[in-house]
Amino acid sequence: MASTSAAEVMNFLNEVAGRYPQAISLAAGRPTDVLFERLGTADLAARIDRYLDASGLSMATLLQYGRTAGAIHALMAQQLRIDEGVPAVPERVVVTAGCQEAMSLCLSALCLTSQDVALVCNPTYIGATGAAAALGIAVHGLTADGDGLPAAIDEAVAGLRREGRRAATLYLIPDFDNPTGRVLDRAQRLAILEACERHRIVVLEDNPYGMFRYDGDAVEPMAALDRAGSVIYLSTYSKTLCPAVRVGSAVVPETLFGDRQAATALFDDLVQRKSYLTVNTGQIAQAIVGGHLLLHDGSLRGWIEPARSVYRNNRDALLDRLDMRFGSDPRISWNRPEGGFFLTVDLPFAFDAAAVDECVNEEGVIVMPMAFFALDASQDRRIRLAFSAVGPERIAAGVDALARYLARRMAPQAHARETLAEPA
Ligand SMILES: Cc1ncc(COP(=O)(O)O)c(C=O)c1O
Repeated sequence: MASTSAAEVMNFLNEVAGRYPQAISLAAGRPTDVLFERLGTADLAARIDRYLDASGLSMATLLQYGRTAGAIHALMAQQLRIDEGVPAVPERVVVTAGCQEAMSLCLSALCLTSQDVALVCNPTYIGATGAAAALGIAVHGLTADGDGLPAAIDEAVAGLRREGRRAATLYLIPDFDNPTGRVLDRAQRLAILEACERHRIVVLEDNPYGMFRYDGDAVEPMAALDRAGSVIYLSTYSKTLCPAVRVGSAVVPETLFGDRQAATALFDDLVQRKSYLTVNTGQIAQAIVGGHLLLHDGSLRGWIEPARSVYRNNRDALLDRLDMRFGSDPRISWNRPEGGFFLTVDLPFAFDAAAVDECVNEEGVIVMPMAFFALDASQDRRIRLAFSAVGPERIAAGVDALARYLARRMAPQAHARETLAEPA
């Protein structure tokens, strides 16, 4: 599965989910519908009205084409400062069609020649590697994580240099990573920033899950720790409001490695690229987000509380059931994320696309092979479990179903069959 494209993975999963509509999906990292219960048509209209009131714009203006870098940049900068401590200034915010567009714009602006390479964690979010592939940008996977990342960056830079290539950017999800669920601690973030400053690598910090912490203390975003001017912060309202608005942003630092003009030039370049890609982010969607922020004192912290408590319960249900089913089995282990939507389970055998099929066909549960997010075979014996969109009872039933499947795969005869079936 190492070379599977993002499109192939999504098609495969949609196709599997379509064939087994009754199956329990621990594969999809969708936000809970609980978030949408307060967003009926009248609620959406009220947000648009509030935005029109505050901005003094007419509905006719809203229905027109708009400013390429966006209309609600000041409100978004304020929300990022209040909720996440990101030092965002309005003049440096490019409002985008979701984080996905922000990633594409930044990758294309930073990797200008065929020698420019994007560093990514291995495994990483498929939307980032998919965007790089669509743009024809080479990626280099860092299989180390946490404390090992700065050395892995040094090594990658040196290796690429020998090939006449250059690490231009590092795409990273420091908080509750998709797919693994891990968090980088403060010291690790600082060490990565130091390595990136030394090599003049621009960090793309993607943070859709940072507000969804269920216990433990928050770690400042890398954009807040950044002293060099090396971090572009990528934001989205997909998990805090709803994916349908397709509103996110790229926040350029005030200086790029100390150079204010270079940061301005990068911002202008992103805006120009956006003007040829989507012209501007839909103004109706921006008005919904803007009106929402105005109605909630510029912050989403209170708004996401019901969803946060749903996710915390789901996470606890998943951990409890994993403990119950596998707690005494040393062959299976998993991490205990303090937030986010995902966790990683380590298995004693490779879990591939055929296993997804078998598992849903025999037991009615869909899980995600970590190999789908990987650039090599290093993740073959891992799966990602998502706990965002399925309630506690179904999570428990899903883990029970997975346990039955895994027990069969790990039975001595299954092992013997696999060994015999292996080519010489
Ligand atoms: C790490 C990561 N980045 C970005 C996104 C998508 O963001 P958007 O919906 O704003 O394009 C997701 C969604 O699953 C994600 O997990």
